[in-house]
Amino acid sequence: MEKESIDLIYLDPPFFKNKKFTGISSSDLRKYSFDDFWKGSDDYAKFLFDRISLCKGLLKKTGSIFVHCDTSAVHIIRNIMNIIFGEDNFRSEIIWYYKRWSNAKKGLLNSHQNIMFFSKTKDFKWNQALVDYSETTNLDQIMQRRKRNSLGKTEYEKDLSGEIVIGGVKKGVPLGDVWEIPFLNPKAKERTGYPTQKPILLLDKIIQLTTDEGDVVLDPFCGSGTTLVSAKLLNRKYIGIDESGDAISLSKERLDSPIKTESHLMKKGKDHYRPKDEFVDNILRDINCSRVNRNKGIDALLKDEVMGKPAFIKVQRENESLEYTYGLMLSALENKKGSLGIIIQTDDSKIDINLDSQIVSVCRTIHSQIKMKFNS
Ligand SMILES: C[S@@+](CC[C@H](N)C(=O)[O-])C[C@H]1O[C@@H](n2cnc3c(N)ncnc32)[C@H](O)[C@@H]1O
Repeated sequence: MEKESIDLIYLDPPFFKNKKFTGISSSDLRKYSFDDFWKGSDDYAKFLFDRISLCKGLLKKTGSIFVHCDTSAVHIIRNIMNIIFGEDNFRSEIIWYYKRWSNAKKGLLNSHQNIMFFSKTKDFKWNQALVDYSETTNLDQIMQRRKRNSLGKTEYEKDLSGEIVIGGVKKGVPLGDVWEIPFLNPKAKERTGYPTQKPILLLDKIIQLTTDEGDVVLDPFCGSGTTLVSAKLLNRKYIGIDESGDAISLSKERLDSPIKTESHLMKKGKDHYRPKDEFVDNILRDINCSRVNRNKGIDALLKDEVMGKPAFIKVQRENESLEYTYGLMLSALENKKGSLGIIIQTDDSKIDINLDSQIVSVCRTIHSQIKMKFNS
């Protein structure tokens, strides 16, 4: 293969378990297996060292490599990667965390695997991913700009008239290194019966963070072809290698008709833990905003600024007059000078106000984003 031609390498080699892995397809009863036997840790380390060294030569200077393992070999792999790529190019150890149901074990139930992430150089490709703030974060408070005082303590910055200064809109926090993604359940359509098959959702994350459409992804231990299917669905090019002919046939079949199982937990996830207010949730669902909790006068903050200012949203509740909603919002905005407030009216009372044309256009956009039908 051509040197420096690959944007991303993901490898999920045997895990150093000294056993044979077997599986069976529930649709056509085809059997699959691969061996994970070694003479010792040196034997395993040499096997991976030789192959990961070759991988390094194939990676572009902007490329990244992810090595999947678990507690059996994480220490060996971290060492090998440090030697081949250099400690400076260690980016993260991702913990893939999943729920398991078992009461059979004395001791702690093992519920994670490890993915060692290194880049070839410091100049690696990265598509920043942001996630919402935790439910306990007081979003409107963290927007208030802080500075250090003469004693070195942080305090809220105030303007000349003593008002608290509002900083820019907060779009979220960078994605962390612990990823909760459910194991494929035994009945999931995505499951092929190949032993140790990984979920496409896990590979989607890795591919989206480190590549763009058209980039090339390589999986040198592709097994059932999960990485390749994910790459194909995300419009990336892909190369898969496996010593097992069955694995290659299965990968080709999956690529011909890809099936991806959506995770209910991931879809429901955050909403599930939010304070329940279905009426407001329904209205805000289609708007590009972050929910603000524990504030009577503000329900959400738009992720994009309006006329260079942060814009807060408040939804008029059922059986609440518009004046009342307005009053709540007005007092909430009291200490947020320089920001805008947008009220979503949900009754049909008439209002008579003049608004700046840019604000009207933002309101129209928000209105068209809300799928619910209103009388006004
Ligand atoms: C853990 S499985 C990969 C599972 C895969 N990630 C998936 O989602 O289906 C490891 C794979 O490595 C393959 N393998 C083992 N030794 C190999 C070698 N020397 N060269 C290429 N593939 C190898 C096995 O056949 C097996 O398919």
